[in-house]
Amino acid sequence: MEQYAICGGNPLVGEVEIGGAKNAALPILAASLMTDETVLIENMPDVRDTNILLQAMEAIGARVQRENRHAVKINGSLIHDLTVEGDAVKKIRASYYFLGALLGKYKKATVVLPGGCDIGCRAIDQHIKGFKALGASVEIAHGMITAEAPRLRGAHIYLDVASVGATINLMMAASMAEGRTTIENAAKEPHVVDLANFLNRLGANIKGAGTDVIRIQGVERLHGAEYVIIPDQIEAGTFMFAAAATRGDVTVKNVIPKHLESITSKLLEIGCEVSEFDDAVRVVASRPLGHTQVKTLYYPGFPTDMQPQIVVTLGLSRGTSIVTESIFENRFRYVDELIRMGANIKVEGNTAIIGGVPKYTGASINAPDLRAGAALVIAALAAEGMSTVDDIRYIERGYEDFHLKLQKLGAQIDKVESERELQKFKLKIG
Ligand code: EPZ
Repeated sequence: MEQYAICGGNPLVGEVEIGGAKNAALPILAASLMTDETVLIENMPDVRDTNILLQAMEAIGARVQRENRHAVKINGSLIHDLTVEGDAVKKIRASYYFLGALLGKYKKATVVLPGGCDIGCRAIDQHIKGFKALGASVEIAHGMITAEAPRLRGAHIYLDVASVGATINLMMAASMAEGRTTIENAAKEPHVVDLANFLNRLGANIKGAGTDVIRIQGVERLHGAEYVIIPDQIEAGTFMFAAAATRGDVTVKNVIPKHLESITSKLLEIGCEVSEFDDAVRVVASRPLGHTQVKTLYYPGFPTDMQPQIVVTLGLSRGTSIVTESIFENRFRYVDELIRMGANIKVEGNTAIIGGVPKYTGASINAPDLRAGAALVIAALAAEGMSTVDDIRYIERGYEDFHLKLQKLGAQIDKVESERELQKFKLKIG
C-alpha cells in the first residue's frame, strides 16, 4: 500500500515547474481521435487519468506512440470499436469525452458511465440535453450510455449550468455536425478555451470560447496538427498555497499568470507577497497570514478545485474565515481529517467556518479525493511532526511527481510502500 510519509514544519523554498493541464489534456486526447490524420500533443501531463484515457484509446484501435514522457502521437484512423468500457476507464470522469468525440466523428458512441472523484452528485443531464438538441438519441442501459444519430445537425443549446464537461462534449460533437451550433451559458475555464484552440488547429470552426456564448460552424472533416497543452492552473495554485501554508517562498514556473488571478488575489488579501512574471509567479509568506471569505465559482471566479487548499491555509491564518462551496455539494469531506490534525473548522451545509489555529500536528490521514488529498499533504507539510497520507492514488490522478517536486522545495516527504520503508523514512528524519 503506497502512502506519503511526511515530516512537517519546513517552509517550502525554491522553484517548481508546472506541467500541462490535466483537465485540458483529457478532452484534447479524446478529440485527437476525431481526425484520421496523426496528431502530436506536447506538454502532456504524465498522470494516472491521462494514462488511463490513452489506454482506453488504444483499446478501441487508436495508435498511441509516446515520443517522450510529455509528448504523444495519436492516430485515430483505425478505430474499430465505438464502445469504450473497462474498469479503469469507469473510474475516471473524463471517459465521457469519448461520447462527444466519437459521436461527432462516427455519429455513434457507447461509453461506460463515468465515475471520478466522489465530490457530490455529478449529473450529466446537460450533456444529454445537448446531444439530443444536435439530433442524437441517447440511451442509458446497464451502466453504459449510448448516443447515436443518423446525422448531427447544428442547434441552439442553452446550458442550465455552465458545465465544463457539457460545454466540452458539445463543442466536440458540434464541430462535426451539419451547420451552426450556439452554446449559451457555456463554461469559460481555460481548459475549455484550450480544447477550442486545439479543435480549431485541426480545422474546426469555433468562435467565442472563453465567453458565455460559443459559436461553432460544423465541418466535414478534421486534419492532423501539433499542439502544446496549456500549463495546469490547479497544480500551480496548489504550490502557491503550499508556499503560503508553510510560510515559504516559492517561484512557480511555466504558468499563465492570468489564469491564476483569483488565486493570486486571495493570497494577497491574506497577506502574502505575490510577484508576477511573464510565465511565473513567486509567492512569499513572511508575515502572519490573515482571514478572508471566499466562494467557489465558475471561471474567472475562485475554482472549486482550489477550495481544499485555501481551507487548509486559512486554518492556519489569524481570525475567522468563511469558505462557501457553490459548485459541488460534497467537497468538505476532508475536513474531518484536518480536524484530526488540530484544525478548528465547522462545516454547515456548503459553508466551512474556519477559526485559525497557530499550528497543525501530524497524524495518519486518508486522501478522500484528488484535490483534498493534495491539500492534506500541504497540511502535513505545515504541521508539527510526522504524518502519513494514505490513498495517494487519488493524488496521482492529477499531480505528476508531486512528492518529488515538493522534495525539491525542501519538503521532507517520501513515497513509501511498506512498514520497512516507513521506518527507514523515520530514521532518516531522525
Ligand atoms: C470538471 O468536472 C473538472 N473535471 C473538475 O475537476 C472540476 O472540479 C469541475 O469541472 C468544475 O470546474 C474535468 O475537467 C475532468 P461540471 P465536470 O460539469 O466537467 C453540475 C479535478 O479535481 N452539472 O462543470 O464534471 C454538476 O453537478 C476535477 O480535477 C449538472 O447539473 O464539472 C456540478 O454541480 C474534480 N449537469 C456543476 O454542474 C450536467 O450535465 C459543475 O460540473 C453537468 C454538470
